[in-house]
Amino acid sequence: MRLSLRDRYIRAMRVSLFKTTAGMCRIDAVAAISRKLLPLHCRKSMQIILCDNYDEISACAANIVKATVKAKPNAILGLATGSTPEGMYRCLIQDYENGDLDFSAVETFNLDEYYPLSAENEQSYHYYMNEKLFRYINVPADKIHILNGEASDPDAECKAYGDAISAAGGIDLQILGIGENGHIGFNEPDEYLRADVHKTGLTESTVNANARFFATRDEVPRYALTVGIGDILRAKKILLLASGEKKAAAVRALLDDHITTQNPASLLKVHSDVLLICDRAAYGE
Ligand code: F6R
Repeated sequence: MRLSLRDRYIRAMRVSLFKTTAGMCRIDAVAAISRKLLPLHCRKSMQIILCDNYDEISACAANIVKATVKAKPNAILGLATGSTPEGMYRCLIQDYENGDLDFSAVETFNLDEYYPLSAENEQSYHYYMNEKLFRYINVPADKIHILNGEASDPDAECKAYGDAISAAGGIDLQILGIGENGHIGFNEPDEYLRADVHKTGLTESTVNANARFFATRDEVPRYALTVGIGDILRAKKILLLASGEKKAAAVRALLDDHITTQNPASLLKVHSDVLLICDRAAYGE
């Protein structure tokens, strides 16, 4: 049987799962938390957990957040919005309501916010975070940080936000979704990427993808404030979540050894502790 290059790569990686003792331990630790997981393979830096469905992704991701907060009650969490982490947030709310998780010492920094958009707008990420997570759990209000989409001086807002992340000691666990075009945060494919927190334009691909949240495509803001690639790569651990076949092309680009600013997520390959949790559709199966 003639195997494609990708299949050969995956086979090699399966073999390396058994050879890479350190990697095995870490995958095992995650699997121990969530038994239904299907560890597929691990690379030197990026580990991958292949789940059967979205609910498994959500439970697995929530378990990692939970383990992080239990190990370090004052953990600094980097949070994402969008469809992908919604299930994870539901699991975390459940854990909190069950008395299993306490966020009272946790501090959070969101990745991004549309610009210009008021926090009261139902499509803002302020609104999303409050509705999907914060109003149900006990992160102190003054420990919740989200970029101000109405800042009169966006550059000053971005600088202050980057300084606040540094002053807090940096992100312990960064949650990421991935755009269909490979964006992370709102770091869009481009010739150059910014390392620091900045104002950015949104690509047509992102405007189209996010139009589903707005009444009309015209209402989608064309700008955003976002943490930069450097801010993301400085996180101690990164959890990248991907679900559905629309993400398959972006995820496939994570499985080779190429790094390109045209697929910003590919820069995660230089980080030493990235865990990709995805379902079979996003994995391209
Ligand atoms: C959201 C964010 C974006 C999303 C990405 C995927 O804060 O930074 O990068 O993670 O656009 O969005 P969904 O999950 O809606 O497919």
